[in-house]
Amino acid sequence: MWEADDSRDLWADAPASSPAHAARGDRFVTGNLTSDDLDVERSLRPQKLDDYCGQDHIKQSLRILIEAAQSRGECLDHVIFSGPPGLGKTTLATVLANELGAQIKTTSGPAIERTGDLAAILTNLQPGDVLFIDEIHRLNRSVEEILYPAMEDFALDIVIGKGPAARSIRLEIPHFTLVGATTRSGMLTGPLRDRFGISFRLDYYAVKDLAQIVLRSASILGVEVDEESAIEIASRSRGTPRLANRLLKRVRDYAQVRGTGSVDLAIAREALEFFEIDELGLDWMDIRILETLARTYRGRAVGLSTLASAVGEDQSTLEDVYEPYLLQRGLIVRTPQGRQATPVAFEHLGMEPPA
Ligand SMILES: Nc1ncnc2c1ncn2[C@@H]1O[C@H](COP(=O)(O)OP(=O)(O)OP(=O)(O)O)[C@@H](O)[C@H]1O
Ligand SMILES: [Mg+2]
Repeated sequence: MWEADDSRDLWADAPASSPAHAARGDRFVTGNLTSDDLDVERSLRPQKLDDYCGQDHIKQSLRILIEAAQSRGECLDHVIFSGPPGLGKTTLATVLANELGAQIKTTSGPAIERTGDLAAILTNLQPGDVLFIDEIHRLNRSVEEILYPAMEDFALDIVIGKGPAARSIRLEIPHFTLVGATTRSGMLTGPLRDRFGISFRLDYYAVKDLAQIVLRSASILGVEVDEESAIEIASRSRGTPRLANRLLKRVRDYAQVRGTGSVDLAIAREALEFFEIDELGLDWMDIRILETLARTYRGRAVGLSTLASAVGEDQSTLEDVYEPYLLQRGLIVRTPQGRQATPVAFEHLGMEPPA
């Protein structure tokens, strides 16, 4: 049985380390994925471009690029996908490999620690493979340098021996397509970025596309969801498919326990209210950020590190996860002095903006 957690007014003005804050473990936006979540996420992941909802411009471009490469009998040029978490970069990499009929080998920037690790991956590729490197902005420099000739000339430069006797030999590797994904395109080095022939930036999704994702996921999960409630869930999902799926699962659970199991607008609204997801899809951490900027700092600019310690969240999560959406909704602005709440934020909090 659920119990409503009504501690909001306790944490609103409490310091970050207060027990009230610590007790609020339920995180909508950044919640850790449990193994069950991961299984569901995998089962909901589209496998083909036709199942991939929204991002029409990217899909159309990919279709043309794939067909052109295939008709020439060549590998697709290297591709980089960038954009905030949960928008479908990893999904697109898988979809791309499936559409190419290619094998995908997956790794990530932080997983490749030494140059030898990357050399081993590259020499084990089969012709036409897709090599997917997630979080590619986190590759270390010496590893990255091995990638340059691999991407450009499909070659691996290996240094044998040390000192004056050292010599470099060049090994050929199979032609492959590198697919990179990053949440921080600004952190890519120039030389790496230049070696990607194709670059796509994923944007937050429109409500209608998210509603389509909710309906598709609902049918895979075997939950009855009507269109109105799909739109309701979609409009509170911060433009993010991962969150749309996460909300759908919560609404499903709520409907199962408090309702009949199927989801209509009334039960969807009740569930969303229960889980404290407001009409913009802001969770309690977003609200805490806005409250801190608007109430504690009265709309003045606040540096990132000050804000992070005031709300009890780490800086990179603030920057990668929370800030992009708050900026996009016009709730905060970034100035050279720091982050500031906008009049829209004051209005959302039901406060008078400072004169
Ligand atoms: N366009 C889409 N259509 C349908 N479902 C989608 C779409 N994009 C993403 N999803 C769903 O959202 C989930 C998260 O997507 P994905 O893991 O690809 O995001 P990501 O951009 O790689 O995130 P991160 O930056 O955290 O790695 C997927 O499991 C998939 O089910
Ligand atoms: Mg990913």
